[in-house]
Amino acid sequence: MCEADLDAVLAIERALFSDAWTREMYAEEIAGHEAWVIEQDGEIAGMACGWRVLDEFQLTNIGIAPQCQREGLGRILLAFVIERQAASGCRLMFLEVRAGNVAAIALYEAFGFAPVGRRRGYYRHPIEDAVVMGKRVKPGETSNAIV
Ligand SMILES: CC(C)(COP(=O)(O)OP(=O)(O)OC[C@H]1O[C@@H](n2cnc3c(N)ncnc32)[C@H](O)[C@@H]1OP(=O)(O)O)[C@@H](O)C(=O)NCCC(=O)NCCS
Repeated sequence: MCEADLDAVLAIERALFSDAWTREMYAEEIAGHEAWVIEQDGEIAGMACGWRVLDEFQLTNIGIAPQCQREGLGRILLAFVIERQAASGCRLMFLEVRAGNVAAIALYEAFGFAPVGRRRGYYRHPIEDAVVMGKRVKPGETSNAIV
């Protein structure tokens, strides 16, 4: 992801999340952390961001544009992030997800994430618990999602 992607990224972000990230938040991810977009037919179709600290990675955001969902892009993007982290020595990954977000939880479980905690009332608009999920990353871990 780069600054030139932000109009498209923000349009997707606002379509997906009631508590959408701002342009400034994405600019901080680009400048100080890690951020990617996934394209389909030359158009940005989704994004993912995260923070790497030593051998841990916190996935801070992942989303696929509504009209591009259920086509395997979320699986490809998450596989890419995991493989990239595994290749650079990451050993643990964490994320937070709304307790009622069955689509995202199913995606995370498919990659071996499991619940490790719960943050009561963590989300706003509407108020909802966060499930904290974690996963051990194997050295050189790959998946067959990237074809
Ligand atoms: C979660 C999200 C990124 C998945 O992206 P996607 O491209 O639609 O997912 P894929 O097509 O790659 O599906 C991969 C797996 O995710 C799960 N999944 C995806 N959408 C699902 C849904 N609506 N219901 C149940 N499971 C779903 C399934 O396990 C699916 O595997 P399958 O197709 O073999 O059943 C997408 O739904 C999204 O952007 N949601 C809104 C934003 C969001 O909630 N982000 C997560 C914040 S923590």
